[in-house]
Amino acid sequence: MSIISIVGLQWGDEGKGKIVDFLSEKSDVVVRFQGGHNAGHTIVANDITYKLNLLPSNILRQNKISVIGNGVVIDPFHLIEEIKKIEENGLTVTPERLIIAENATLILPIHKIIDEINESLRSKDKIGTTKRGIGPAYSDKVSRRAIRVCDLSDENIIEQKVTEILNFYAPLLNASNQESLSKTKIVSSLKEIAPQILAYAKPVWKMLNEYNKSKKTIMFEGAQGVMLDIDHGTYPFVTSSNTITSQSFAGSGLGCTPITHNIGVVKAYTTRVGEGPFPTELSNNTGAILKEKGHEFGTVTGRDRRCGWIDLVQLNQMIQICGINSIALTKLDVLSEFESINLCTKYLIGDEEYDYLPASQTLQQQIVPSYISVPGWKSDISGIKEYSQLPENAKSLIEKISNLLETNIDIISTSPRREDTIILRDFF
Ligand code: GDP
Ligand code: IMO
Ligand code: MG
Repeated sequence: MSIISIVGLQWGDEGKGKIVDFLSEKSDVVVRFQGGHNAGHTIVANDITYKLNLLPSNILRQNKISVIGNGVVIDPFHLIEEIKKIEENGLTVTPERLIIAENATLILPIHKIIDEINESLRSKDKIGTTKRGIGPAYSDKVSRRAIRVCDLSDENIIEQKVTEILNFYAPLLNASNQESLSKTKIVSSLKEIAPQILAYAKPVWKMLNEYNKSKKTIMFEGAQGVMLDIDHGTYPFVTSSNTITSQSFAGSGLGCTPITHNIGVVKAYTTRVGEGPFPTELSNNTGAILKEKGHEFGTVTGRDRRCGWIDLVQLNQMIQICGINSIALTKLDVLSEFESINLCTKYLIGDEEYDYLPASQTLQQQIVPSYISVPGWKSDISGIKEYSQLPENAKSLIEKISNLLETNIDIISTSPRREDTIILRDFF
């Protein structure tokens, strides 16, 4: 029995899906606790590539329980499509193994339109959202307008809330010369889909606390990266939820419980999709090599991911904010190209040194990263499964990162495939 948390420690796409899938073999339950279908988690198992947005990454394992917690914003139409796609691969998704919090809130088609309008209204500082309606859906949640999963069982509430939401956005749609959406259409499509969604709806908080009492192993799966956290990330260039570890409890209803393994997934370099500060970004040939070798294109929007060196300053900060006690280092194989590898160990802003990312947007733009350089290994390590088989310089790099971050690196990933994973700690 244990509680395991897995979050991405950079700006997303660290390889959370692969690590959650790998460790879920010996866990009973995986819980998504924030975000929505802006997430794109890739898993390569038995030579099939699965791309998940909303479904927890243990959905591929037929005898496991997958939970979507109250902190997630759910596009019900997307969810049904995603379930369909998974079932086309021969897997079955039944209400016994997929459980959705009845108090989770919904993303409606209007939220996607508002997401686009909000972006177009920003003269500067566009965020580069996934345009999936995440921000507007969370706004409606905190403004106490949102439709919740449990509301789908009451036709009057659906109608009343859709009316309220459309009325609220009418002036914005008008001002943007956008036609309003048909209330009748939204209401009827929600009513049509309601029984399918309600079949999975349960009091997740209650079930998770029971699972915990009966000593099941529960794993939390973060979406996005912690640098996209609404409070602790590079605001305003962030997503609209808390992505840090402590959100696991608020976003699921499991009572605060010590986390046995608090894992941060770290890519051996850094990437970011969308706009916003990125101190170690490389707009040169090195960045282009990282992008090409790492296949760094967004899973959700297909956009190029911006690439740069690993940034130990932001990682150190996020390790503290999340209480991380274990690192999973991914995509080490992508660094095989380089004569030498840079690690950012401090920031310079004017004459001042910083060992953390200052909150000010103005200061964040002025950061000049300061690096140390270590020798590369110039040989292909893709697919290596034993630590002892790694080249000496790769081992030195791992040790250096671990020492500088004062955190154990317990998992090393050397390819997208499930089995190409080095495990240095007994998690179970
Ligand atoms: P997530 O959002 O954190 O789950 O990450 P994504 O799935 O969006 O992006 C990570 C990408 O890297 C996916 O295409 C994975 O298949 C791939 N990947 C994961 N681990 C490794 C690794 O160790 N090496 C390589 N080359 N690719 C990896
Ligand atoms: P996973 O779970 C990388 C980014 C978007 C944009 C910002 C806000 O696969 O790591 P949003 O649509 O959430 O309002 O967009 O956040 N973003 C991600 N970047 N990986 C993700 O998820 C992301 N989810 C959102 O690109 O910059
Ligand atoms: Mg992703």
